[in-house]
Amino acid sequence: MRQSSLVVVANRLPIDDSVAPDGACEWRRSPGGLVSALHPLLRHTPATWVGWAGRTGPAPSLPDVDGVRMQSVPLSAEDFRDHYEGFANATLWPLYHDAVEQPEYHRRWWEAYQRVNQRFAEVAAEVAEPGGVVWIQDYHLQLVPGLLRELRPDLRIGFFLHVPFPPPELFMQLPRRAELLRGMLGADLIGFQRAQAAHNFAQLVAKVLDLPATDRRIGVDDRVVRVGAFPVSIDTGEMAALAARPEVAERARRLRQDLGGPEHVILSVDRMDYTKGIEQRLKAYSELIAGGHVKVRDTVLVQVAMPSRERVGQYQILRERIEREVGRINGEFGRVGEPAIHYLTQPFDRAELAALYRMADVMAVTPLRDGMNLVAKEYVAARVDDTGALLLSEFAGAAAELSQAYQVNPHDLEGLKQGLLATLQADPADLSRRMRGMREHLREHDIRAWARSYLSALDETGSLTTRLRTD
Ligand code: ADP
Ligand code: F6P
Repeated sequence: MRQSSLVVVANRLPIDDSVAPDGACEWRRSPGGLVSALHPLLRHTPATWVGWAGRTGPAPSLPDVDGVRMQSVPLSAEDFRDHYEGFANATLWPLYHDAVEQPEYHRRWWEAYQRVNQRFAEVAAEVAEPGGVVWIQDYHLQLVPGLLRELRPDLRIGFFLHVPFPPPELFMQLPRRAELLRGMLGADLIGFQRAQAAHNFAQLVAKVLDLPATDRRIGVDDRVVRVGAFPVSIDTGEMAALAARPEVAERARRLRQDLGGPEHVILSVDRMDYTKGIEQRLKAYSELIAGGHVKVRDTVLVQVAMPSRERVGQYQILRERIEREVGRINGEFGRVGEPAIHYLTQPFDRAELAALYRMADVMAVTPLRDGMNLVAKEYVAARVDDTGALLLSEFAGAAAELSQAYQVNPHDLEGLKQGLLATLQADPADLSRRMRGMREHLREHDIRAWARSYLSALDETGSLTTRLRTD
């Protein structure tokens, strides 16, 4: 097997198989924040990406994508059910997102989690060059750092968690909490989105494993594991360049026309997930219409909600509830040719997303809890003329950086309504000042800056950064 000096390990590969309209099998970019962040970064880097190809059964052999080697890991239907849908997305995901849905604990899921983590560690061990760097991503693979260190002690191992890391009182619920913490401690550097997460982790390690721990360093046997906050970002330049294209601007104008030329367009773009606060947002919007604060003729809401984890019960229930609510609101407040909500569940290519961002004068990003939320950053990057308002939840990681957004508590319905009204009625000069400040921040703090800061922390000498094209 060919080996690389830089190996990224993530549950998903950046491409997913899907069926083309003519029935043929084709590959497309997989949805979600992790791929959005890492795909542009690794493009044209001689790295290997280890992950699952989105289809159960034997691992397909895949061509390189933009110069990056794709190394697929097989998942059986049982692995998919018990590891991905079970332990990852019905135990850890809800627990790490403030338990907004009840986490479930099943011993069979834990067995699958161990088994799949072991398989990912074995594949990573095979494709990493001697002394190479392996960068493990996210909550699906928290045991991989420890397992990989046992197989390949020569490697430099990084771990980055894209989602929130919960406070001790929540994490302590986990039946296998000690094993999960120990697994992460196999890394040389553990990165989180926010400093609070690093603090939660250090507190837990001290409490559960009785190890000497500060928010920056943890002593494990004869090693020091470093811990820190590295807020992930986007390819700001790429999104801005895309949004500035004349055909994208033209498409944005057409989209607005197709909506009936309203005075205001509010846009939300989410994966269909109970953490994203979609139901709360719909409720706030419908109450604004019912109360006469917003008129359907003047103001339109476009809600993009891309279905996700569709066989997990909580996600099925959520989709049914959202679709019922959209139907109710349109039935009650829409008119012929004038729905109150335009509801779309399709995937869009990057140019269409950029056009949607340019079309919307208010972007409502109001998750109940989110590790970062790249959609908020993409909207800001796309507003190349410094117009538009970002309504942002305090509970998105992005809120720590985008302080000039209109920030709201999405659990507070009245606050959410006031926030929406404030963005709709805002003074254009104020909006422009805020947007300029946020765009400046993202120009500097883009995905390359994130990788640079993470990889130079992983290798204090900074020499690892040369393995990626980060400038
Ligand atoms: P998460 O990682 O929870 O999905 P993020 O907001 O961080 O949330 O990232 C979502 C990513 O998926 C963004 O890059 C966004 O542009 C992309 N995305 C969301 N909805 C769609 C869609 N309908 N079509 C294509 N890409 C989408
Ligand atoms: O950001 C969290 C995350 O689970 C990422 O790992 C992933 O890119 C995204 O959400 C989409 O989730 P899934 O891979 O389950 O479709």
